[in-house]
Amino acid sequence: MNRLMFKMPLLVAVTTILLFHPSLVRSNHSEDHAGISARRAADYVHGVIEAGRTTYSQAIVDRLGKSDSLRTTENWKRENTLPLPAQFLMMSSRMSNQRGIGMRYRLMSLWPINPKNAPPSQTEQRGLKQVAKNPGQPFTWVVQKNGVWFYEAIYPDKAVAESCVSCHNHHPKSPKTDFKIGDVMGGIVIDLPLGRRFNKKPSDKFLFPPEVVADYVHSILESNRAVYAKHIVNRLESRGVMSASEHWEQDHTLMLPVQFFINTCRLIREKGLGLDFQLISLWPINMKNSPGNQFERMGLETVDYHPIRPYTGWVKVGHKRFFQSIYADLAVSPACVECHNAHPKSPKRDFKLLDVMGGIVVTLPIP
Ligand code: HEC
Ligand code: HEC
Repeated sequence: MNRLMFKMPLLVAVTTILLFHPSLVRSNHSEDHAGISARRAADYVHGVIEAGRTTYSQAIVDRLGKSDSLRTTENWKRENTLPLPAQFLMMSSRMSNQRGIGMRYRLMSLWPINPKNAPPSQTEQRGLKQVAKNPGQPFTWVVQKNGVWFYEAIYPDKAVAESCVSCHNHHPKSPKTDFKIGDVMGGIVIDLPLGRRFNKKPSDKFLFPPEVVADYVHSILESNRAVYAKHIVNRLESRGVMSASEHWEQDHTLMLPVQFFINTCRLIREKGLGLDFQLISLWPINMKNSPGNQFERMGLETVDYHPIRPYTGWVKVGHKRFFQSIYADLAVSPACVECHNAHPKSPKRDFKLLDVMGGIVVTLPIP
């Protein structure tokens, strides 16, 4: 009786919220049997990797190379230049792997400059040939390694920028010298761990929990931004080579890390996978980045004091279901704090290092 009395106000509150939001029913519990197939999970992971790679190659490497502002070289640390797109991908992949999330990715090619990037087995070799011939479809298979099953997928890696073609064709160690823009130059190989407990081979019908897939895509996006901030912006600024500015296009400078992030998100959205990301905050410089609804507001408030775990929920729009995760966005470097506290449009001026500055909203459509 006492317990029921205690729960009454809560019940009333929940009913009221549901009554006032009839079209938007949310819950914080995973829905039964809801999951994302291995193939779709790999499509999402690949979509984010490719968008980051395109942003870096087109908006940084190509643009600064064409205006003769900054070169891209293998020995970028010593020469104060930009790292190669392949090196950018490797650093980002390593950072993502270090979080221990289990998903891995790497570059490979049938015509590698570095022999280490040649296919290690016949399956990968067959996959690379297949995606070069038929770039519309990834090549996928299931394999057991040290007792653990993995879903593996190879997606074509295309020459999305002028610089890809000109650098590879002129590289003394490149076995192929006639790449053209748009050509398949190699493949992005993605490994998704399926688990140990299978007495027969699992299939690509295997379902991943949506929170796991959200962790994968968030981890790649976050690693790309961190590599860009640390190895491009901070390094080149501290050596007086080039700075980052909001009006990077006119200024012929580097874009801000947040702009790298926003540009990547736009490319992902344009792919039409239904996958979406937003960077929002309770104290936004740009009012467009304010929370758009009660869920986002609650999420930002929650990750502000529980920054380790994302705040998750489900939403139904018409007949479509979406899973959403909001991850804390921390002030990981002094530059975050300095720039936001000093920005004329920032409503908050007392951010400190490692404060939660906002949140990254990941939206995954669930069929
Ligand atoms: C300035 C030179 C340069 C540019 C620009 C460049 N690459 Fe590379 N790329 C390299 C080098 C050097 C390696 C070998 C890196 C290593 O040691 O693993 C490489 C590695 C690769 C690999 C792995 C196989 C291999 O050749 O070792 C692929 C695939 C690849 N690049 C595709 C691309 C694509 C696609 C682009 C454009 C988005 C691009 N590259 C831009 C120089 C370049
Ligand atoms: C040199 C300035 C600068 C630096 C450094 C910077 N930001 Fe920002 N940040 C901005 C600007 C400008 C915007 C607004 C972008 C837009 O128009 O959407 C922004 C947007 C954001 C947003 C979305 C909410 C808002 O304020 O509009 C978050 C969250 C955020 N930044 C967090 C960070 C974090 C975390 C770091 C460090 C890893 C960082 N920022 C580094 C300038 C900066």
